[in-house]
Amino acid sequence: MKSFQGQTWAIGGGKGGVGKSFIASNLACAMALKGYKVVLVDADLAGANLHTLFGIRYPEKTLTHFLKKEVTRFSEILQPTPLPNLHLICGAPAFLEIANPKYQHKQKLIRAMAGLDCDVTIIDIGAGSNFNNLDFFNMADRGILVTSPTPTALQNSYAFLKLAVNRRLVNLLASRSFIKQEIAAALSGKGEVKNIFEILNLARSIDKEAGDKLMRALIQMQADLIVNMATEKEGEKIAETMASTAYRFLRIRLPHLGHIPFDRVVEDSIRRMQPIQLAEANPITGIFTSMAEQLAAEGDLPAPEKRIPEPQEIIAAAMA
Ligand SMILES: Nc1ncnc2c1ncn2[C@@H]1O[C@H](COP(=O)(O)OP(=O)(O)O)[C@@H](O)[C@H]1O
Ligand SMILES: [Mg+2]
Repeated sequence: MKSFQGQTWAIGGGKGGVGKSFIASNLACAMALKGYKVVLVDADLAGANLHTLFGIRYPEKTLTHFLKKEVTRFSEILQPTPLPNLHLICGAPAFLEIANPKYQHKQKLIRAMAGLDCDVTIIDIGAGSNFNNLDFFNMADRGILVTSPTPTALQNSYAFLKLAVNRRLVNLLASRSFIKQEIAAALSGKGEVKNIFEILNLARSIDKEAGDKLMRALIQMQADLIVNMATEKEGEKIAETMASTAYRFLRIRLPHLGHIPFDRVVEDSIRRMQPIQLAEANPITGIFTSMAEQLAAEGDLPAPEKRIPEPQEIIAAAMA
């Protein structure tokens, strides 16, 4: 039994190559180094590679074993990492069938991720705005959107956010098929209606109770933004533009969690197949540590008690 409700954080953002996996893995390490019990899930069903970032070439157990019922419990596919309180759920690198799981498989996976016995489950989402990726983002207590400063990355991450919001609203109308059709069409840009408030007013005019339900859900929605490979100035400017666009058109808040500069040490760490958070301290490790502190505080996670080894001790143990 969990002694308190663990948190689920999803890292998404539409475009590939913007640093989602790099951020998910290092945020997971930063939380584990603080003493939290963390599970990092590779939910990139089309291009699983999170294990590689941890130096695992051929994971023994992957999501395939779980979805093909070769194990009974999700916890049986947890892979250890050099950090004793961080485990991975590896994706399936050589099993393309899983890239398009059946609906029941996806639901099974979502239930399993939500039920993990740990303080924080971090979900690394693949590229693209397909339903799987949107649903993994939406299931989380906290959705963290990653973008780089390029115009295409910005477009893709905004589109991802918009589609995630739309899907969440439409899913709330599950049992009301008439209004669901009308609202889905309006949200996807068909017809005259544009702004999300107008759409929710349309919903209210069809069914007041359902419209109110959507309005309440919308008010509670929020995502966080990380601008990767950006200077502080770029990060701030982009965060401001993205937040005002998200508020104007979607009426949701998009606070800036922080920016991460472009740095060769990132590429070096990926080449060494060791998360940067487990290497010597540098400005980027400090950024992940403060993000972890902020997220832990905002997620009401209790302070961890156990002492955990220093990164140097962990590296030494892994090399021995
Ligand atoms: N802050 C950064 N500085 C330098 N290179 C970075 C940074 N973030 C990511 N990269 C580079 O981008 C590549 C893609 O990152 P990755 O996390 O795999 O992206 P995604 O998961 O979004 O597809 C990495 O292999 C790394 O070389
Ligand atoms: Mg990735």
